Parts: sequence; C-alpha cells; structure tokens
Amino acid sequence: MDDELIVCRCEEVTAGEIRRAIRDGARDLSAVKRRTRAGMGLCQGRTCESLVVRLLCKELGLRAGDVAPASPRPPVVPVPFGAIGDPDEADH
Ligand code: FES
Repeated sequence: MDDELIVCRCEEVTAGEIRRAIRDGARDLSAVKRRTRAGMGLCQGRTCESLVVRLLCKELGLRAGDVAPASPRPPVVPVPFGAIGDPDEADH
C-alpha cells in the first residue's frame, strides 16, 4: 500500500500517516484512531477499519485476530431539547 493512498476517506488519513502512528507507538485500532482520526468519520470505521488492521498486522507482524477491536463510540449528533424531555414538565 502506497504511503499516499487515502485509507480513511471520511477523515482523509493516508497509509503513510497510519504507518507513522504505528512507528510512533500505536499498537491497536484505538491508538491509531487517537493519533490519526482514522475511524472517527461519518462511517465510524466501517470502510477503513479493515485496511487499518492490515497496516497494523504488516507493520507489527501480527495476525488479524491479534488486533484488538476499536472501542465503539456512538456518533454524536445534535438533538433538539424537546427530544430529551418536555420543558413544561420541569415546573412540576
Ligand atoms: S472511512 Fe474512516 S471513518 Fe469512514
């Protein structure tokens, strides 16, 4: 995989940036995510996670099953106050 190849399309993270993160100490998906933002985009890693795992395996000499999955995070989206509770009920 060429260093210029975009691995995470959502966050525009290249293979070279991910390799650099691994060489700087990232040892799992969550660590790569924290250092590069790969996997934090709109698809939440559905598109790029398998490619990041491949890079981790190649750089660290691991098998795919050895790479711990990223800790899941719910997507953050704005919600109207009315979706959380009824403001009129606060008076009771
Ligand atoms: S392609 Fe990486 S988060 Fe979507």
